[in-house]
Amino acid sequence: MEFTVQTANPAKVETACLVVPVFKDGDLLPAAAKLDDASERLIGQLIERGDFSAGLGNVQMIPFAPGVSGERLLLVGLGERDKCNEAAFRKALDAAFTTLAKLPVSDAAAAFTDVPVGEHGCAWKARMTLEAAERAIYRFVEFKSDPAPAAKLERVILLVGDGQDAEAAKQGARLGAAIGAGINVTRTLGNLPGNVCTPRYLAEQAEALGKGSGGALEVEILDEEALEALGAGSLLSVGRGSAEPTRLIVMKYQGADNPDDAPHVLVGKGITFDTGGISLKPGENMDEMKFDMCGAASVFGTVNAVLALRPRINLVAIVAAAENMPDGKATKPGDIIKTLKGLSVEVLNTDAEGRLVLCDALTYAERFQPASVVDIATLTGAAIIALGHHATGLLSNDDDLALDLLEAGETAWDRAWHLPLWDEYQEQLDSNFADLANIGGRPAGTITAACFLSRFADKFPWAHLDIAGTAWSSGKQKGASGRPVGLLTQYLLDREADAEVETDAE
Ligand code: BES
Ligand code: MN
Ligand code: ZN
Repeated sequence: MEFTVQTANPAKVETACLVVPVFKDGDLLPAAAKLDDASERLIGQLIERGDFSAGLGNVQMIPFAPGVSGERLLLVGLGERDKCNEAAFRKALDAAFTTLAKLPVSDAAAAFTDVPVGEHGCAWKARMTLEAAERAIYRFVEFKSDPAPAAKLERVILLVGDGQDAEAAKQGARLGAAIGAGINVTRTLGNLPGNVCTPRYLAEQAEALGKGSGGALEVEILDEEALEALGAGSLLSVGRGSAEPTRLIVMKYQGADNPDDAPHVLVGKGITFDTGGISLKPGENMDEMKFDMCGAASVFGTVNAVLALRPRINLVAIVAAAENMPDGKATKPGDIIKTLKGLSVEVLNTDAEGRLVLCDALTYAERFQPASVVDIATLTGAAIIALGHHATGLLSNDDDLALDLLEAGETAWDRAWHLPLWDEYQEQLDSNFADLANIGGRPAGTITAACFLSRFADKFPWAHLDIAGTAWSSGKQKGASGRPVGLLTQYLLDREADAEVETDAE
């Protein structure tokens, strides 16, 4: 999505559509007031006469407004002024841009930086605006013979008022556009069916990303032979029952001035389809297990955003990709496997496969001597029971890292919630026959899954994001959400800011 920033009087801005947010109390924000003055009080009168109700997310198109250069006016309800928090602001943005995406307009001029939202400044509001615009034009129609027409919207003009920081708006919009595009990459990978999006397909995507990066992204793919030689027996055990070969995908981005700076590492669960294996899942809604690679997809989306924004940090992105199928060759309950770290695992349930691919990827991450490691996984149904579909579960062996991630989630409005990773839970993984079992029973399933991973994350600050509840929606709106690309990208941008503070202090 292209964008420009305009500081001129909004009544003079040439655009196919002026987008004007309005509070329920009828007190117009500065841009709206200017448009109102220029248009014989069109907006004020519509509200006074009750022809437009500014309830949160209500929209009304006005096909013609006298005295303004814009061809149309789209009023967007912000609801109550004192309830205009981040969630309300995003709801109004989504209402505006989903409407715009259906209109025959290729550009729109929006006045959202005027809206008071907590302590947020112009940059944050511009960022949210571009992110919403990107998300709104998203379509997944690759497999439709007669798809609905694509959105026409190509350019957003940010109307920035007097006394507002136009440069900040521009920087914010740049972030929002990159994050929104990253979110859409993640949604597409998530939405692709399991017969298309296989471990090899993900590997091809990584290679294509590397080729298109002009040398900024180095890509290495480990095939089954390489993984065998390495000793990644746990990752390989998950793909044993599948005709699709397993892959470990490694992408390296060097943005820091010093190439030797310790990298931040992202690790994505890339189960391209999870049948449960021999511990077969019930049939109902099993199609949704094509989304079991959404952690990997969020890593790809974040790498895309990083390549667009080029932060001065070093990043390693690892995707552990396999398909979990039942078969004569498949791993069976009771089988004991050897992980890359050397620990043996008794596989009591082949449906707890995510942790089995991630543990070897975490061990692989050790070689980079990382500054931090964050894994992202649709790991447990229990995360949905605990947190529903709004918060990503966060568990960590390092409270500072946990706080950094929580904060990034708040800023990006892609929030996580911290769960305990106390030692007391670890004994649920005791095995009679191996070093540990791959399941810890019903109590605290999200925590014991993280406990399992923690055994492989003892060499670096590590956090785990369980996105089982947040990575996709079910029902009529079925589809991948693109979360937590916002959180992850913000986390990495914050690390760039940290590094700069440290350099300044030297
Ligand atoms: N991919 C699933 C987790 C999942 C289930 C995510 C439903 C979203 C919706 C994971 O591989 C899995 O099957 N986990 C099991 C673990 C159990 C066997 C300990 C689960 O959550 O039931
Ligand atoms: Mn499973
Ligand atoms: Zn799974």
